[in-house]
Amino acid sequence: MKQRALDIDTLLWRHRSLWQLPAYHKRAEPYWQDHYPGLAEHLLALSDAEVASLAADDRALLHYLTPVLADSVPLLQHIALPRQDTLQEQEPPSGIPGRKWQQIRAFCRALPATAASSGTAVVDWCAGKGYLTGALHQHLNAPAVGLEIDPRLVHAGNRRLPPKARLVQCDVLSGSVDQHLHAGQHLAALHACGGLHHRLLQQAVLSQAAQLSLSPCCYHRFIENWVTLSDTLKHSPLELRREDLRLAVRQTATARRGEQLARRTLQAWQLGFRQALSDSGNNLPDHLPGLPQPVAKTDFVTFSRSLARQAGLPLPPVDRRHEEAGWHLLARTERLELAAMAFRRALELRCVLDAALFLEEHGFNCDIEEFCPPTLTPRNILLRAYR
Ligand SMILES: C[S@@+](CC[C@H](N)C(=O)[O-])C[C@H]1O[C@@H](n2cnc3c(N)ncnc32)[C@H](O)[C@@H]1O
Repeated sequence: MKQRALDIDTLLWRHRSLWQLPAYHKRAEPYWQDHYPGLAEHLLALSDAEVASLAADDRALLHYLTPVLADSVPLLQHIALPRQDTLQEQEPPSGIPGRKWQQIRAFCRALPATAASSGTAVVDWCAGKGYLTGALHQHLNAPAVGLEIDPRLVHAGNRRLPPKARLVQCDVLSGSVDQHLHAGQHLAALHACGGLHHRLLQQAVLSQAAQLSLSPCCYHRFIENWVTLSDTLKHSPLELRREDLRLAVRQTATARRGEQLARRTLQAWQLGFRQALSDSGNNLPDHLPGLPQPVAKTDFVTFSRSLARQAGLPLPPVDRRHEEAGWHLLARTERLELAAMAFRRALELRCVLDAALFLEEHGFNCDIEEFCPPTLTPRNILLRAYR
């Protein structure tokens, strides 16, 4: 685990110019071209369908890059994790979304119920409506408590849950969490965001938990920059900014087609608007505000008007040529961005391995696996830690 973390760290550092990206609008031109001969051409040769499938599949992407990026081979080796099989579909209990239920079942399957675990109190960290809290209580035959900040979710969940699985309102980032944590517990979290799972890791050590089962998510949320936790990686020159952490979760495998089209339309129109600004001799702002998805159902001129108003900019003359230029730039950007995407799983693993090493440095034994296929959720890493 230690060597893997150090190797991934070295690869990320060596190729940082490919993935530590500046602001969005500057990405259309690869500033890394001189150092990576052939890479831009290799990416620009892809068809739309190939771009879509490689953007959703880290391994296929690294395979494709092998002829122009020799380090794709060690990257492929390092991101390979043991993966659990796909579970047979099962009708969810009423009220639970189907995909969430499949994720919960896969998460529980990865935590075998043993005689030793039976009865060990479980804490579900950031429990939402407590679907996992109830499932863990049943699966592990143990009392379970779910910590959740939103009182409406706590109330709704408790109406459904049995007496030995309860939700309590608690801000896990506050000192009030201490009253719910005791030595010997099993702390579990499904899709806990960056700052929230950082806190969980620290609390698992402080409260002397017996076991921890964490599936991390959205590493950039509730956090400024990644504060390295483990002694092993503390001396790395790599600094992970919020923007870099966001890259680790840029994968749209589970977004609906309509959502994907709306997102791409807004991106293309924004690039077209920039083109119109530049054609009419305006300065290009570093940042433009994002507009809500329903705006994608209007047209380019309406979009440009709203964007100019929101950004406090003059409305430049806009027409079909700018819209077409926007789509063209988007196609180019999406291809070149695959160079960064090739590192997103390594970035994610850098965070997870840092967490695992931190726990090992504090007396836990850890393992890491994929608890479900990425089509069910791309956030499919499970870190298990035992005393
Ligand atoms: C991504 S959801 C995960 C919910 C659940 N584990 C699941 O997989 O369905 C994150 C949950 O964390 C809760 N949350 C956010 N900040 C929190 C905090 N400071 N303390 C406790 N819960 C928090 C949110 O209200 C939300 O219900």
